This record gives sequence, C-alpha cells and structure tokens, in this order.
Amino acid sequence: MLAGLLLAHFGGAAFAENEIVIKFSHVVAPDTPKGKGAVRFKELAEKYTNGRVKIEIYPNSQLYKDKEELEALQLGAVQILAPSMAKFGPLGVKEFEVFDLPYIIPNKAVLDRIEKGPVGQQLLKKLEPKGITGLAFWDNGFKVMTANKPLRAPQDYEGQKLRIQSSKVLEAQMRALGASPQVLAFSEVYQAMQTGVVDGNENTPSNVYSQKMHEVQKYLTVTNHGYIGYTVIVNTKFWNGLPDDIRKSLERAMNEATDYVNNIAQKENSDALDAIKSSGKTQLVALTPDEVKALREAVMPVHKEMESRIGKELIASFYAEAKAAGY
Ligand code: LMR
Repeated sequence: MLAGLLLAHFGGAAFAENEIVIKFSHVVAPDTPKGKGAVRFKELAEKYTNGRVKIEIYPNSQLYKDKEELEALQLGAVQILAPSMAKFGPLGVKEFEVFDLPYIIPNKAVLDRIEKGPVGQQLLKKLEPKGITGLAFWDNGFKVMTANKPLRAPQDYEGQKLRIQSSKVLEAQMRALGASPQVLAFSEVYQAMQTGVVDGNENTPSNVYSQKMHEVQKYLTVTNHGYIGYTVIVNTKFWNGLPDDIRKSLERAMNEATDYVNNIAQKENSDALDAIKSSGKTQLVALTPDEVKALREAVMPVHKEMESRIGKELIASFYAEAKAAGY
C-alpha cells in the first residue's frame, strides 16, 4: 500500500518534471480567428500528448509586441507564434510581403491554392535559414479602412496618417494613395487613434472589433483591398529536439487547428463587421463598383514597384494561381 502510494507520488513527480511547456504568444485578442486557433491547438495538443505537453497561451501582446516576438522565438524564449505575413519582411524574409500587395489575393479559393500548393511550401522553406520552421498558414481575412472620414476616393486619403504594420509594401500602398503611413505595433494602435496620433488604419474587421478601434474611429470603409493571414512558426532547434512521438502529436493537433481556423475565419470577420455596424459607434461606408475601380487603379502600380523587393517570379506565381482558379 505504502509502496504503491510512494510509487504514485514519485511517478507523478517524475511525470510533472517531464512535462514540456510550450509558450504560444500572439498580439491579437482571444476572440479572433488566431486567438481561437491558439486555444483549439492547445486543447488538441494537450489531448494528443496525454498531458505530456502543456501549452501556455499569451494573447494581446502580453509577452511581446510585434517585432519582439520574432526575436524571442529565435532566442528560444517563446516556442510558437503566428505572426502576420508582414512581420517577416523586417526579419529579412521579404518574400512574405507578397501577401501584403493590394488585391493580390482575390478570394479564399485562390488563397487556398497558394497556401496548399508548391508556392506556399517554397515560402515556408525561406524561413529555414532563420532557424524557424513554418508549420501552417492561418487565415484572418480581407482588410477594411478606418478613419474619421469616409475614404471613398483616392483623394480622400490625401494627408491621412494611417497606421500600417512595418512593411515596405504597405508603405508603398499608402503612399500611392497620398496617405502618410505610420508604422506602429498592433498593441499601440487603439491609443494612437484615441489621441489623434494617427487618423486611421487598415485591418480586418475582427481585429478592428476586438481592439475596439471602432469606438475611436468615425468611419469604416469596406474596401477589401488586401489580405491579412498568418504563418504559424516554431523555433527549429526546439522543434527538432522534441521526442518524435510528441512532435507527431503536435503536428496532428496543428493540422486540425489549422482546418478549424481556416473554416471559421471568414465568418468571424463578417460577424465582426455586423457587430461593428450594430454598435452604432462608427459609420460603415460601402463603395460603389466605380469607387472600387478607382481605388484599385491607384494602388495596383505597387505590384510593379515592389517587384525588385519581393521577386517578379513570386508575384507571377500568385497571378498564375488566380488565373488557374478562374479569376
Ligand atoms: C496588425 O499588426 O495589424 C495585425 O496583423 C495583427 C495580427 O496579428 O493580426
């Protein structure tokens, strides 16, 4: 009896000692596609590893802001992240900025072709020299513009200080519209809007709503001019150092969490847009087909302008996927 108790005790202690703790840090709210994906991954990962792995989630930039989180991953201070594609440019992996080009992804079907096919795999390979392994692509959605005025025509952007992620492509896009791009960490955007440091920003409805940006912005213009999505990444040394069975279980959890996120993302964003509308705190502006055309014409030269930075072939491979999808 005593031996049994002792064994249970020491067995338990040994078990706890062997527990692998994985920190998953991100910058958005829990109630977003990425936030929900992180929770789903945690549940599945802990289940499939029979409790040998514990996933700790740190949302809302609690641990690290935008740029810091990638440095922390490289140093091994955090193990999993899901940064937006724009965040890889400052790391020196400029190819990921292709996703930031305005109108490069016409719809979800084209996005799926890119991410599930060879183009997506080649992009993930670009992370290897940085000590980073790409596990999956997670969707967020198409961007809207918020400001204290309606942004209907390119002239309306003139002189507007609009927050962007740190991305040369997004900078060029805002300049093409005559706006003044302001790079800020995601966690700083709400306050910058509230205090008038910026006039507005581009983001997905789920990010706008969950950060309450609509409470400090008078107008939201539904432009759908670009896309925000994520690459889920791990520190390669850490990942390869895991016992094989654990890594396989985590891969299984990641694959299932990825399907989950990519299934809910579009609805999460349309629900967020509805919630913003019914809050009555900001006015939604829909564009006419002619207004969409003018916006498109104003920003499309950015594709050519960014060829030398991103790679002409990579951009062409995105066009080819859109064409193959019948777009
Ligand atoms: C932003 O920085 O605007 C967003 O991309 C944050 C995020 O991770 O969705």
